Amino acid sequence: MSAPAAIPDTPTFVTHLECGMTGERLPADTLQNLSPKGWPILVRYDLAGVKAALTKELIAGRAPNWWRYRELLPVRRTENVVSLGEVMTPLIPLPRLARRLGVTAEVIVKDEGRLPTGSFKARGLALAVCMAKELGVEKMAMPTNGNAGAALAAYASRAGIETVVFCPDDTPAVNMNEIALQGARLYKVNGLINDCGKLVGEGKATAGWFDTSTLKEPYRIEGKKTMGLELAEQLGWEMPDAIFYPTGGGTGLIGMWKAFAELEAIGFIGSKRPKMIAVQASGCAPIVRAFEAGERHAKLWENAHTVAAGIRVPAAIGDFLILDAVRESGGFAIAVEDAAIEQALKDVATEEGLLLCPEGAATYAAYKQALGDGRVKKGDRVVLFNCATGLKYPMADGGKPLDRHGSIDYSKL
Ligand SMILES: Cc1ncc(COP(=O)(O)O)c(C=O)c1O
Repeated sequence: MSAPAAIPDTPTFVTHLECGMTGERLPADTLQNLSPKGWPILVRYDLAGVKAALTKELIAGRAPNWWRYRELLPVRRTENVVSLGEVMTPLIPLPRLARRLGVTAEVIVKDEGRLPTGSFKARGLALAVCMAKELGVEKMAMPTNGNAGAALAAYASRAGIETVVFCPDDTPAVNMNEIALQGARLYKVNGLINDCGKLVGEGKATAGWFDTSTLKEPYRIEGKKTMGLELAEQLGWEMPDAIFYPTGGGTGLIGMWKAFAELEAIGFIGSKRPKMIAVQASGCAPIVRAFEAGERHAKLWENAHTVAAGIRVPAAIGDFLILDAVRESGGFAIAVEDAAIEQALKDVATEEGLLLCPEGAATYAAYKQALGDGRVKKGDRVVLFNCATGLKYPMADGGKPLDRHGSIDYSKL
């Protein structure tokens, strides 16, 4: 049995799929990649039906994982739910650092490192795999910067679906090894994630792969949407003032924005929205450049480099969806230097005892930077996304050697 008994066997409220650019309608329950015009596809629901069927109390009584939002998710049959023990990820305030920065409102980390495979990629890939299972897919392929490939490999193996994964050959070793160990055929490519994406595109017809690349199928957004649903519920259905999100392909930012619109449509929240803040690294900041230039699409970023491998994404096919959400929310896109990311990681770990991943640390660095330039205020309640467990990443050597046979001056230890 792959579905925990607590998951209600309710029909989904999906009505159709829709091109994210043109609004063209496509049928639900069919296998789709990009829309006929070549844009990402969004899933649409009968929200009036959801409103009539779902209450906050009903949700509160369900198991603490993303299937508690089942009416807003696309899986039709419970037998297609693939589960690895999902949890609601905790909100962890940073009170010591907040005091040090002189801020008067809460600074909260949503720690996604607690999910299966140690990252928020579990949300999107779990839903992609459930839907692939529902629609009869046998082989899935994707390019990855690490965490997404690991989540795909894990959930697909659990579902009995074959996977082929391509990653840049300098992806963190732990990611490459977990992908391979969790059952994918992994290829380490001498290029960046967009080069890996080209290989999936070129090979899929010959090899019979379903292309699971970021935003090239409709369901990863639906999984990532649960970050927004969960955050809203955890905050008592009150929106924070700002959300800092480490942005590569941007699925999570787009997904949360969609979640908030759906929650308003079903009457769970009002019209207040957080400022959506897309965080990138200075060595790879195509969204920041497009935001500042007032453009709706981002040009390819040449020679992309950053210590935060997950956000080393030189081109994002959903760039317009990211930029639309950021602008509509009154937010902004911001780039941080690698040195600031490394310092942020150290500060949060040593002061608060919370080990972030580099991409998560980038959000704290960006928050500090935005406080400094006045784009967020000291009274703003902010949420920073830590997308993966810090334990997956190489760390600086810690500790000092101690000779137990020598004389030890304990007063100096
Ligand atoms: C740890 C981490 N943070 C952030 C990202 C970027 O996520 P998104 O593609 O949703 O923008 C990734 C993607 O690989 C990641 O692994």
